[in-house]
Amino acid sequence: MLLLENISKKFGTAQVLNNINLSVTSGSRTAIVGPSGSGKTTLLRLIAGFEIPDSGRIILHDRPLFTGGSFVPPHHRKIGFVPQEGALFPHLSVAKNIAWGLKGTSKEIEQQVHALMERVALDHSLAKRWPHEVSGGQQQRVALARALAQKPALMLLDEPFSALDAGLRNATRKATAELLTEAGVAAILVTHDQNEALSFATQIAVISQGSFAQTGRPIEVYSNPINQETALFLGDAILLPGQIRDAKAYTALGDIDVPDAPADGCHTVMLRPEQLRIEPCHARQSDAVATIMHIDFSGFFSTLTLLINASVQTITVKVVTRADFKPGILVNVLISGSAVIVN
Ligand SMILES: Nc1ncnc2c1ncn2[C@@H]1O[C@H](COP(=O)(O)OP(=O)(O)O)[C@@H](O)[C@H]1O
Ligand SMILES: [Mg+2]
Repeated sequence: MLLLENISKKFGTAQVLNNINLSVTSGSRTAIVGPSGSGKTTLLRLIAGFEIPDSGRIILHDRPLFTGGSFVPPHHRKIGFVPQEGALFPHLSVAKNIAWGLKGTSKEIEQQVHALMERVALDHSLAKRWPHEVSGGQQQRVALARALAQKPALMLLDEPFSALDAGLRNATRKATAELLTEAGVAAILVTHDQNEALSFATQIAVISQGSFAQTGRPIEVYSNPINQETALFLGDAILLPGQIRDAKAYTALGDIDVPDAPADGCHTVMLRPEQLRIEPCHARQSDAVATIMHIDFSGFFSTLTLLINASVQTITVKVVTRADFKPGILVNVLISGSAVIVN
């Protein structure tokens, strides 16, 4: 439905985006995730038509929005945009914010605003309030309702949940994902929060310094990151030097399968923490024995620093807290699944 082909953009001499390619299918949810300053907002603004690419093509439903020769202005693109901050007009009521840009008699507009508020689960008693008189989560839903009012085929969301606290953020994200799917509106969400990206999206694109490092289904990119930067950006990772031979990595934690090893030799391999089981040492066979050096308790989880016996290698791994874990004790380390090479 939306196609970005070789999109590049400079501000002055700074190359902010470099050869971006992306394909978004109807009704799908894409998350673009990357650190601050990596070009995420710029990319959304190019798609919305608030900025002009230096080169490349933007196609929506087989209609060119931008090619070197043609440019469709923002209000003719049928694209909704919920910006990062300052999304609402402070001098207009909630209802007037949502009605902004709607056409029809005042009765028709009132009915449409009513339906839109219902769609984003906003109570009608809020209609006459000023933006500053409703909560952060409600403000985000007003912004979403205003963008939905334009009946967009595509919704762009620029870190819309970042100002909300954790519980509300999860609930609002889930509700937003559901209502966009229900309305058949494809969405591109930009965020620097990896959990948000992984849980919201059907497709994730990791952006680093203006280029996509990797694009794919969230579970694929999480399990098979292309390099260390992507691996660490998407979650905790255990990185180990390994000698690769015949699709096996020989590491301080034992021999681990590496099905996609490109070549033998020395490489860094990655495991996700959920692949490790740490248990107080007993007679059972394990992949490795380690000593707990340090425990950082944070409630449900604790972060263990382990010295792997018979090596000088330490690893840090987040585990579900156990009272019988104490500094100095020996533990068994059991590994499930395979590792990936991340150089
Ligand atoms: N209008 C602009 N003029 C000059 N530089 C800009 C402009 N907009 C963004 N930039 C620069 O482009 C880079 C990427 O910015 P942005 O797209 O906002 O990143 P992100 O949203 O990933 O944090 C930053 O270095 C920023 O300073
Ligand atoms: Mg931004």
